[in-house]
Amino acid sequence: MAKITISVIKADIGGYVGHSSMHPNILTRAMQILDDQKKKGLLIDFYVTHCGDDLELLLSHNQGENSGEIHKMAWDLFVECTEVAKQLKLYGAGQDLLSDAFAGNVKGMGPGCAEMTFEERESEPIIIFAADKTSPGAWNMPLYKIFADPFNTIGLVIDPKMHDGFTFEVLDIFENKIVKLNSPEDIYDLLCLIGASEHYIIKSVYNKNGEIAAVTSTQKVNLIAGRYVGKDDPVMMVRCQSGLPAVGEVLEPFSLPYMVAGWMRGSHWGPFMPVSVKDAHPTRFDGPPRVIALGFQLSQGTFIGPRDMFADPSYDLARQKANEIANYIRRHGPFEPQRLPLSDMEYTTLPQVLNKLKDRFK
Ligand code: 13P
Ligand code: 13P
Ligand code: MG
Ligand code: MG
Repeated sequence: MAKITISVIKADIGGYVGHSSMHPNILTRAMQILDDQKKKGLLIDFYVTHCGDDLELLLSHNQGENSGEIHKMAWDLFVECTEVAKQLKLYGAGQDLLSDAFAGNVKGMGPGCAEMTFEERESEPIIIFAADKTSPGAWNMPLYKIFADPFNTIGLVIDPKMHDGFTFEVLDIFENKIVKLNSPEDIYDLLCLIGASEHYIIKSVYNKNGEIAAVTSTQKVNLIAGRYVGKDDPVMMVRCQSGLPAVGEVLEPFSLPYMVAGWMRGSHWGPFMPVSVKDAHPTRFDGPPRVIALGFQLSQGTFIGPRDMFADPSYDLARQKANEIANYIRRHGPFEPQRLPLSDMEYTTLPQVLNKLKDRFK
């Protein structure tokens, strides 16, 4: 069978209300456009969802990664949906579209993008994760646990097909350089880097045969823009089972509502709350940060699903814990560590305030 490409392309093109959610007309418009493209034959299949105020397009096709046609189609869709957002005067209409003209690839232009190409296996379970109010480093900890931590993934210990471990591609977001590190051999080096999740971001994970297992969107919108625009609100795609981590092993790290950067004005740490799509509307202090997980079985490139994986009472305690942590950390108000450290505030509006104070320092 020919290889297929799965692309997840996302953008915040306007919030309803404020930055809390997505207006249904935007979702409808996006579905209509993708349905047309499917009929024209550009797409095999598609699925549209949102996490908070971020619109996620899940696309299957035969155009390969970084396809100009696919990226242009997604960009044009975001532009059209921005028109809908402008008519409704939604908040921050076109927030992530940093340019008026499309330049061949959505990467570097504001939207987030994660793509993988593979030969569909006899059975191909995949999980698409989407987040709101956080940055791409949010996937570092779960990816480490899923692919390198036997206390999370028992398959690393007892499944001979997983015993060799995995290779992590880590991106230095400031230098724009990639380093490949292997687990288990290099795990201490790996943790040195990815523990600094606002600087080093896991971009992809492969098995030792070079087969793709997971990809993330690594775009940092404020770095690209050089000013505060909003938060990246990244996506991640993970293939599961048959020599890769089981579905339950892929979901397990989210039973801990670990701390992520990006709550309120992109400037605060907060607990990452796993929720069903129906609860993916961050409201308290514009948060706390949310993550959804949609499971699909692929069949000839068609998305069979989704199953809303966090719509499960076994994540109730994680949600309760997230609320407790939110209560605690919120009491710090404008003080660190609720607020991000100064180095991470560089691309917020804080430097403008500091600038005003400059002459008062004697
Ligand atoms: P596979 O190796 O067939 O993916 O089975 C593992 C499993 O599902 C155990 O939970
Ligand atoms: P988004 O990045 O989700 O648009 O949120 C921006 C913000 O400032 C929320 O407080
Ligand atoms: Mg927004
Ligand atoms: Mg958002």
